[in-house]
Amino acid sequence: MSNIRGRFGKAADKLVAEYAASVPFDWRLYPYDIAGSIAHARMLAKQGIIPDKEAKIIADGLAAIRDEIEQGKFEFRVELEDIHLNIEARLIEKVGDVGGKLHTARSRNDQVALDLRLFVKEIIADTLTAIKEFQRALVNLAEANKAVVMPGYTHLQPAQPVLLAHHLLAYFEMFRRDADRFRDCLKRTDVMPLGSGALSGVAYDIDREFIARELGFGGISANSLDAVSDRDFIIEYEAAASLAMMHISRLAEEVVLWSSAGFDFIELDEAYATGSSIMPQKKNPDVAELARGKTGRVYGQLMALLVVMKGLPLAYNRDLQEDKEGLFDTVDTLLSSLEVFTGMLGTLRVKAENTRRAVEQGYILATDLADYLVRKGEPFRTAHGVVARLVSYAIEQGKWFPELGLEEYQKFSPLFSQDVYSITVESSLAARNVVGGTAPGRVEQALASAKKLLA
Ligand code: ARG
Repeated sequence: MSNIRGRFGKAADKLVAEYAASVPFDWRLYPYDIAGSIAHARMLAKQGIIPDKEAKIIADGLAAIRDEIEQGKFEFRVELEDIHLNIEARLIEKVGDVGGKLHTARSRNDQVALDLRLFVKEIIADTLTAIKEFQRALVNLAEANKAVVMPGYTHLQPAQPVLLAHHLLAYFEMFRRDADRFRDCLKRTDVMPLGSGALSGVAYDIDREFIARELGFGGISANSLDAVSDRDFIIEYEAAASLAMMHISRLAEEVVLWSSAGFDFIELDEAYATGSSIMPQKKNPDVAELARGKTGRVYGQLMALLVVMKGLPLAYNRDLQEDKEGLFDTVDTLLSSLEVFTGMLGTLRVKAENTRRAVEQGYILATDLADYLVRKGEPFRTAHGVVARLVSYAIEQGKWFPELGLEEYQKFSPLFSQDVYSITVESSLAARNVVGGTAPGRVEQALASAKKLLA
């Protein structure tokens, strides 16, 4: 029977034990739990709360338990509820009663808060690395297709020509903000809660700053009630993850569109596509579709934790145990999505002939025609009207702009002259020569600064 059954005469009902257990999922906190316990034991010895010798026995025992877990030799027991009690029970089993001194001046409430903060700190570092790799894949794809033009869309209607690199760098910016959000979340996660005890602090002369330093925290929490019951840092991680997944999902949608027969802008590598069990001709963008779908799940985890927290009185409540599965699921989903997308972007082939054809069809240079008239003195609003009538006429005639004769242009405005034919996709791109625009020189600069950021 676990030591927390204390005053009870019988073991928990089997169903209750299973219902209450978190070890089936919180076992993965073991490296943080052990690191936190070793730091705690050292602090207890430094403060003369336990003898040095015993702290050493405890630390060695914990290190040995870490090895057992890593080698798959550790037997996790559901009746011991969570990872904390599993490790403590094993410690006592291995080193005897001395092991029972580890929990001096500590509660599982500040212990679990510590473990989670250590976990999220490490995960933020992993997330930032994964985002960087993903951004590198975006930049490489942009670089490899620097001259590729495609239609830019509004309302999913071809609107104006853009460079594919410009389009890809739009995602680079989104993930730059995502990385900023994770870095910002790290500031508030990097706070050491141990010493808060169950809720009110502990009745020993402990050194919280020492533990913070041992574990690499930037600071310690200021209020014990808050420290054991706050999960803002998890919510912030999940919120930042939701935004990052939203960005992945938007790109996923473009991959789905671009690889469809209607667009045919890209060809996915076979390693990143799947076939149909019934239609042999299919090559499906399942990876992108799954990412789009998983985004919904990540949003759900964020909402779930917000709802778990909203009615909780101070301080710790067992409801808080529900923070973990959603966090782990969010982390696993975000990291795997980033990794898979990095690979997918690294292997897809851009069909530049098709993106070019899509630009040359239609009336995508209409804005440029209006700008042309403006440069010749026409107010933009009237120029817009002239070109709108010109487009209707051209559609009726079944002609693209280059196929219209000068006299046809001049029916709509006397300002049109021979140089109207120098309006091309290239001139249109070159004209967007503003910071943040799609002019090739600007995109070149943007690529250079993206590469500098990644270096
Ligand atoms: N497994 C618990 C959790 O995840 C650890 C803290 C338990 N504390 C308690 N007073 N029952 O929240």
